[in-house]
Amino acid sequence: MSEIFTKVKQLIEEIESASPNSKEELEQFRIQYLGSKNIIKPLFGEIKNVPNEQKKEYGQLVNKAKETAERKFAELQESLEGAAADGNAPDNYRDFDLTRPGEPLELGSRHPIATTLNRITGIFQRMGFTVAEGPEIEDDWHNFTAMNTPEDHPARDMQDTFYLLNSTEMLLRTHTSPVQARTMTAQKPPIRIIAPGRVYRNETISARSHAQFHQVEGLYVDEGVSFADMKQTLMYFAQEMFGTPKIRLRPSYFPFTEPSAEMDVWIGMDNEKNYRLSKGTGWLEILGCGMVDPAVLENCGIDSQKYTGFAFGMGIERQAMRLYDIHDIRLFFENDVRFLKQFAAVI
Ligand code: PHE
Repeated sequence: MSEIFTKVKQLIEEIESASPNSKEELEQFRIQYLGSKNIIKPLFGEIKNVPNEQKKEYGQLVNKAKETAERKFAELQESLEGAAADGNAPDNYRDFDLTRPGEPLELGSRHPIATTLNRITGIFQRMGFTVAEGPEIEDDWHNFTAMNTPEDHPARDMQDTFYLLNSTEMLLRTHTSPVQARTMTAQKPPIRIIAPGRVYRNETISARSHAQFHQVEGLYVDEGVSFADMKQTLMYFAQEMFGTPKIRLRPSYFPFTEPSAEMDVWIGMDNEKNYRLSKGTGWLEILGCGMVDPAVLENCGIDSQKYTGFAFGMGIERQAMRLYDIHDIRLFFENDVRFLKQFAAVI
């Protein structure tokens, strides 16, 4: 009876050592060992001729033959396909179509806020400003106290500021002005920086206002810096950004500047869009500015007798809305690819 055992064992060896190297040879292998008339199948029937005490061993051996054939087939198939993909396969196995068009590679696009920020940053860099950064999670001192904001100022109110849970000290910065304090405490004049970044306010979200938005802060501190320097810098910015030096400075108030102003840029009223954006005035308000209050300089350890400076802070979203004709501020933060894709060509 050992004859049949030997036969099965030889078969297993034969399967193990098979090495088809074309698709056709592999198909031969499949038909021979796994097809509906494969040569392993009849071996199961032989069990009736095997003595009872050897039936179990025989059954296991034939099963092993079958399993070996299945495993070997899977391995061979994979290596042949792998080789084909590598371009190393025997010629008759390279049957994929090289002329088929490739999978398109989807390119992302820059976010319109990023593009606007980069443009603004570029304009000031060309005037000699360098980029400074600060954290979005700020402490009360940098956001308010150093910026000369009184303890009872409404901006500090919970209604306007997002405080971190259980904290009266840590908050989400409400403007980029704390970067002024961070820079002035770390650096001696001359200081000429811009600080782009994200800010947060506890606002009701609508088409025109959002609880998160972006600002670019500017700060110039040196001996003899004047209001005229500020005006000239901002006019140049308006020219570069909006194509016109026509600006308007309206008296305003900020705790950290004195005197303070708000700047509008002339966008005209010759079309419906500009009419709506400027609320029928032709002027688009884009920034707050002023001469750095001497108290702020002193808070940050800078001699206010020797140095003066100007600062400004501008909102980005409104400029991006005007630049790209976007009517709802919420679109910037939804990350809907149908919206974002429209800016694929914008650099
Ligand atoms: N921080 C002010 C704001 O958020 C803007 C500003 C910055 C005004 C610097 C004056 C000087 O509205």
